Amino acid sequence: MSLDVSVMVTGGAGYIGSHAVQRLLRDGARVVCVDNMSRGCMGAIDRLAELGKDRFAFAEHDIGDRVSVARLLADHRVGVIMHFAALAMVGESVDEPLTYYRNNTAGVVELLEAADEARVERFVFSSTCATYGEPSDEHVPIPEHCPQAPINPYGASKLHVERMLSDFADAKAKRGEAFSYAALRYFNVAGADRTGVLGEDHDPETHLIPVVIQAALGKRDGVKIFGTDYPTPDGTCVRDYVHVEDLIDAHVEVMHALRANDRRFYNLGIGKGYSVREIIDAVQRVTGVDFAVGEGERRPGDPPRLFADPTKIQQELNWRASITDLDEIIGSAWNWFRAHPNGYEG
Ligand code: UFG
Repeated sequence: MSLDVSVMVTGGAGYIGSHAVQRLLRDGARVVCVDNMSRGCMGAIDRLAELGKDRFAFAEHDIGDRVSVARLLADHRVGVIMHFAALAMVGESVDEPLTYYRNNTAGVVELLEAADEARVERFVFSSTCATYGEPSDEHVPIPEHCPQAPINPYGASKLHVERMLSDFADAKAKRGEAFSYAALRYFNVAGADRTGVLGEDHDPETHLIPVVIQAALGKRDGVKIFGTDYPTPDGTCVRDYVHVEDLIDAHVEVMHALRANDRRFYNLGIGKGYSVREIIDAVQRVTGVDFAVGEGERRPGDPPRLFADPTKIQQELNWRASITDLDEIIGSAWNWFRAHPNGYEG
C-alpha cells in the first residue's frame, strides 16, 4: 500500500530522524526533510535521496526559520510534521541550558507558527522519558500518568514543548481548525537499520551501546561504568533499550491513528530494563571481543532505574516492540559500526 501523504521530517539527517525518513519512503510517502546540519550527517541524506528519488526533498534550514519552513510546508502540501530536530545530550544541556531552550523549545514556537500558517493538521513530537525526571519506585515501570518533573534542562526543554502543543491544540480547536498531535516519550533508543543503509553517527559519542561497541572495535581503550553502587540488582543503572526501527514503527502507527483534534501520549520502550553491566556483557558476547571495563563515579543526573510501562500504546494501538532480544538489538548496532567504523565517512 502506498501512502498518499506528504510528511515533513525535521532532524531527518540525524540518527532517529533518518530512520523515520527511510521508513516513510519505503511506505510510499513523500518526504521533505529539514535539518540545520548542526549535528546531522550528509551521508544519511545522500542515502535517503537515492532511496526516495523524486519523493524526497531536503532543505538545510533551522526549524526556527519560520518563513522558509512555512514555504516548504506549503510548496510540498505537507499534511504531517514529524519533529525530531533537537539537541539531546543531558550533560551538555546542564552546561548550556539556553542553547537547549533556544533549539528545543523556542525553535518549536516558530515551527508551530509555520504549521499554523500552512494549516498542517497532524504533528508527531519526539519527547523523552527525561520529562519524568527521577520517578518514585511506585512509578517504575513508568506509565504515562507518572508525574513529569524533569531534573535537567534537556528534559525541561521537551516538557515545555508538550505544554505548548497542548495550548496550541486548545486554541486551534476553539477556532474550529483541525489539529492533532502526539508526544512520544522515548526511552533509550538503540540499534540500527537492519538493511545496513543507516546507522548511528554521533560526534562525540556518549551513549552506552555505541561507546561499548567502539571499545570492542578498538577505537577506545575500554569502557568505564558510571557508578556501581546504585540500588539495582548489580549496582549499575538500568535502562530500557528500544530498537530504532520499532520506535519509528510506533511513529507511523500513531500518525495513522491521529484523528482531528486528537492528542495522544505514549511511552516508547520494550518494558524491560537492562543494567550497564548486562549491556557490556551482551556486547562482549555478540562481538566475541574482550576489552577493559573500568568502574568510575556516578554521572550526575543519572536516575538508577528507568523503564517503560508500554501498556497504553499496546492497548490503544496494538503496538509493541518486536525486537526485544538484547543480543539482536546490539547485533544490529554492531553490524553498522563494524561496516562503518568512522560513521558515514567510511
Ligand atoms: N554509561 C556508562 N558508561 C558510559 C556511558 C554510559 O556507565 O561510557 C551509563 C550511564 O551512566 C547510564 C547508562 O549507561 O546509566 C545509559 O547512558 P546513556 O548515555 O546511553 O543514556 P541515558 O540513559 O543517559 O540517556 C538517554 C538518552 C537521552 C534521554 C535519557 C532519558 O540518550 O536522550 O535517556 O533519561 F534524555
